[in-house]
Amino acid sequence: MDATADIAGWETEEAWAALLRRRNGGAENPPGTHPLLSLFGPVLSCDHGPDGCTVIGRLAQTLDGRIATAAGSSQWIGGRGDILHTHRLRALCDAVLVGAGTVAHDDPRLTTREVTGPSPVRVVIDPRRRLPDTHRLFNDGAAPTILACLDEVPGPGRHGAAEVLRLPRAGDGLDLGALLAALGARGLCRLFVEGGGVTVSHFLAAGLLDRLHVTVAPVILGSGRAAFTLPEASCIADGLRFSWSVYPLEGGDLLLDIPLRRARPRVCGGGSPAC
Ligand SMILES: NC(=O)c1ccc[n+]([C@@H]2O[C@H](COP(=O)([O-])OP(=O)(O)OC[C@H]3O[C@@H](n4cnc5c(N)ncnc54)[C@H](OP(=O)(O)O)[C@@H]3O)[C@@H](O)[C@H]2O)c1
Repeated sequence: MDATADIAGWETEEAWAALLRRRNGGAENPPGTHPLLSLFGPVLSCDHGPDGCTVIGRLAQTLDGRIATAAGSSQWIGGRGDILHTHRLRALCDAVLVGAGTVAHDDPRLTTREVTGPSPVRVVIDPRRRLPDTHRLFNDGAAPTILACLDEVPGPGRHGAAEVLRLPRAGDGLDLGALLAALGARGLCRLFVEGGGVTVSHFLAAGLLDRLHVTVAPVILGSGRAAFTLPEASCIADGLRFSWSVYPLEGGDLLLDIPLRRARPRVCGGGSPAC
């Protein structure tokens, strides 16, 4: 029997089971053509960055680059396929990271309810420790949880049931390089930055994203919260340009898989200005 033809005929469940085996230390996937394998293979590769981590950023945005209304409503910009994709990324990664704004607005659980696979460690980036400890993920016990804040912020060593991780300041924010080093030292090497836009933009500006998964939904809002925010560019050539692979998702959205390889935008100090 032609093995290639057999693999090409896999159902999604079989491809997903193979990815989970690989996540858990199993052998390499056999060469296959299922889109799940080409999409998630790089996420599972051992080709980690210099800090020992692979960092995947993700956002679901409208055609005009909004991730939520101005008031913060974002459910749901993407359709069913995007929700499944997000839960799959959670299951394949060791930790999921979100900004304080997302927890304040959505009170998310960040578990893998829609797919088989383990829930990741949850990391909330809340530099000023402004979130109350009553949010669900600080108390539900569904997965270990870490609150990352600036080391100058006072308070107890726990936040609800979550561990408090204190980190140095870098510029006007929290030192994300130090956060990756701390997570990597705990064996949390595959890191999924789930949002929101401010947080993903901080990782992008620091040149700390290995890959970016952006779902574009066929929606125009014309207002709302931006997906990406960086310092002002002087000309189009200053923009960060890349290649992408496009995957159609159930529900009519498009998923863009972008190998950033830790590229740093010019406007953030990544190379000399182009204009
Ligand atoms: N469509 C999507 O894919 C998606 C995904 C997630 C969330 N959302 C929506 O997006 C909204 C929240 O997103 P958002 O962009 O406004 O906020 P966010 O990224 O969730 O959180 C931003 C906050 O996180 C803290 N932060 C994160 N990284 C930091 C760093 N390196 N240094 C300093 N501070 C850092 C800051 O807190 P401080 O301000 O306290 O300093 C910052 O204001 C919500 O409405 C949510 O529903 C949409």
